[in-house]
Amino acid sequence: MPLLEVNNLRTVFHTNDGEVYAVNDLSFSLEKGETLGVVGESGSGKSQLVLSIINLLASNGRAEGSIRFQGQELVGMKPKEINRIRGDRIGMIFQDPMTCLNPYLTIERQMTEVLMLHQGLDRRAARQRSIAMLDAVHIPDAANRLKRYPHEFSGGMRQRVMIAMALLCQPDLLIADEPTTALDVTVQAQIIQLMNELQQEFGMSIIMITHDLGVIAGISDKVMVMYGGRICEYAPVFELFQQPRHPYTRGLLQSVPRLDLAGSMQLHSIPGNPPNLLHLPAGCAFADRCEERLEQCDHEQPPLKEISPGHLNACHLETNP
Ligand SMILES: Nc1ncnc2c1ncn2[C@@H]1O[C@H](COP(=O)(O)OP(=O)(O)OP(=O)(O)O)[C@@H](O)[C@H]1O
Ligand SMILES: [Mg+2]
Repeated sequence: MPLLEVNNLRTVFHTNDGEVYAVNDLSFSLEKGETLGVVGESGSGKSQLVLSIINLLASNGRAEGSIRFQGQELVGMKPKEINRIRGDRIGMIFQDPMTCLNPYLTIERQMTEVLMLHQGLDRRAARQRSIAMLDAVHIPDAANRLKRYPHEFSGGMRQRVMIAMALLCQPDLLIADEPTTALDVTVQAQIIQLMNELQQEFGMSIIMITHDLGVIAGISDKVMVMYGGRICEYAPVFELFQQPRHPYTRGLLQSVPRLDLAGSMQLHSIPGNPPNLLHLPAGCAFADRCEERLEQCDHEQPPLKEISPGHLNACHLETNP
């Protein structure tokens, strides 16, 4: 059984202008110990996808379809139950550390409380585990730093504190939404290495959202490319970089990056605008920006087809080269 199985997920927001489909009929699964990298330009639905998984959508949003985590259906689960899973078995790292750090509490309070609540540790043991975790994310002088408030940390340090917090309960799934954007390249490489290490040690699975293809190359086993709330291509990381098939993916990968940690290639921009999710076109959402567009692209949604084992592509060129 896969760790996570998402089937026909649709994330809809109710707005004054109508229904916004942020995620459209999206399916994938994630095995234990596997890392999925998620790329796609701003507004393609990456964050709403993971927020749907942990049930933290804005109040005007709802998820439809099925999300099974360790065999348990998360869609429609009671808030109390999902809260327990969230703190304990699924860890989440957000782009902005301050969204999950409380500015009025010391780091110690914030870290130990999680452990006391979810793992039933006493204060002393919780303190020890917190220090060990801060050490693990390379925060120097962890025992003393624990007494500090979030604003007393630099941006990079806060990011590490947040990663330490997400890992405290040794989750089975770590979801990271642009966790390294605010960090300089060396710190970023350290964090990626750290995540790889922790993954080896604890066997956790990771969903990593990032704009940075270097990070994707450095950490992912598989990569999902999203466009307009859908998967346009999905492949093992090496194959995606070596043989990108979707015109959008090819646009993202100007050249084949080196598959090492130091690469920090930014996504290059593709002319045109992302689709309006309020009025998604009947055909391929990428059609009006695509240099290889065919006539049928305008009115027929290309199905996501397996073109070689584990490599999926949603493009009419697959059937009409
Ligand atoms: N509460 C909301 N109400 C209406 N629409 C929303 C709401 N939250 C998100 N959306 C829409 O969902 C779409 C997908 O947003 P999402 O946050 O997933 O993008 P993203 O791929 O994470 O982009 P970025 O790279 O900028 O973080 C956006 O077009 C956004 O406008
Ligand atoms: Mg986002």
